[in-house]
Amino acid sequence: MLRIAVIGAGRIGHVHAKTIAAHPQAELALVCDPMGAAAEDLAALYGARSCKEADEVFADPDVDAVVVGSPTPLHIPHLLAAAKAGKAVLCEKPIALDMKDVEAARAELDAVTTPVMFGFNRRFDPSFAAARATVADGRIGALEQLTIISRDPAAPPVEYIKVSGGIFRDMTIHDFDMARFFLGDIVEVHAVGQNLDEDIKATGDFDAAVVTLKAASGAVATIINNRHCASGYDQRLEASGRDGALFAENIRATTVRLSNAEVTDAQEPYLDFFLERYADAYRLELSAFIEAVEAGTAPPTSIDDAIKALRLAEAATTSAQSGQPVRLD
Ligand SMILES: NC(=O)c1ccc[n+]([C@@H]2O[C@H](COP(=O)([O-])OP(=O)(O)OC[C@H]3O[C@@H](n4cnc5c(N)ncnc54)[C@H](O)[C@@H]3O)[C@@H](O)[C@H]2O)c1
Repeated sequence: MLRIAVIGAGRIGHVHAKTIAAHPQAELALVCDPMGAAAEDLAALYGARSCKEADEVFADPDVDAVVVGSPTPLHIPHLLAAAKAGKAVLCEKPIALDMKDVEAARAELDAVTTPVMFGFNRRFDPSFAAARATVADGRIGALEQLTIISRDPAAPPVEYIKVSGGIFRDMTIHDFDMARFFLGDIVEVHAVGQNLDEDIKATGDFDAAVVTLKAASGAVATIINNRHCASGYDQRLEASGRDGALFAENIRATTVRLSNAEVTDAQEPYLDFFLERYADAYRLELSAFIEAVEAGTAPPTSIDDAIKALRLAEAATTSAQSGQPVRLD
């Protein structure tokens, strides 16, 4: 039984706390958040302890592992402090808002010896994982093109956008990791940002984007992002190879389809957002983390994966601002 603490009792902290509490090989030991009663309230839902200071988590001998779900600028400090205290770490994406923060901590990050995994939950989505496994089995031949569509149901508040690091670091980061998951190293990034939302434009960010990535293999990925989608949380993927193609489609709450005089084959909107759409992925991500910690093997995503995804996000930001492709090799 892995005794896990959650740092940050916000949106993703709630997802992780619920997932840990329901997992047969995990115990939610402690929830930490300095804000008001956030930690207390979340801990009380699952009979866990709570605290306000992250240092209490790192010093707690009854905590084996830490989930870092605090705001992004705290990821590196929390990850390093947990690792120095000998705790295994499952850290949320992105690793930082700026590669400069990664470089400043590079020596310490390289020196981490406890297991560290990053929360690229979409790798664990059963449909995306099955598509990746099918590519690896060679059943569609050499992968030539990958298309990832990721649209949120609605834009977050402008206050969130202002501190998010921008669409590429905050949102596309998952898709950069997914592209790496399928295609390996990426050597060129070309991003086009869109500004159809005046409120988001005023923050200096984009509300939608299309990114093309060229992999070292020669294959190309296209990522299509939008901060809003009238049909719900639009999460799809298509992989096209020399000998075939794979399609991972949207998921709805039921499979019921309506046909009548006005419409045929009408279905419910897509599941509303990440909590519902990726519930299985968060559970399987946690299972993979626990398995690696208990077996003493390398977790399936690493600090290096997190850094490479952030580097792609920075390259995309530069490309969208300059209108030029950015080479990474
Ligand atoms: N993998 C995913 O699907 C996913 C989804 C959402 C968010 N995230 C990531 O998770 C992180 C948190 O995002 P969120 O949406 O949950 O934000 P949030 O603002 O809802 O929650 C963050 C929480 O951290 C707390 N906090 C602030 N300082 C702290 C400290 N020193 N110690 C402990 N807690 C502290 C805040 O009080 C807040 O409750 C971000 O990095 C985000 O990118 C990942």
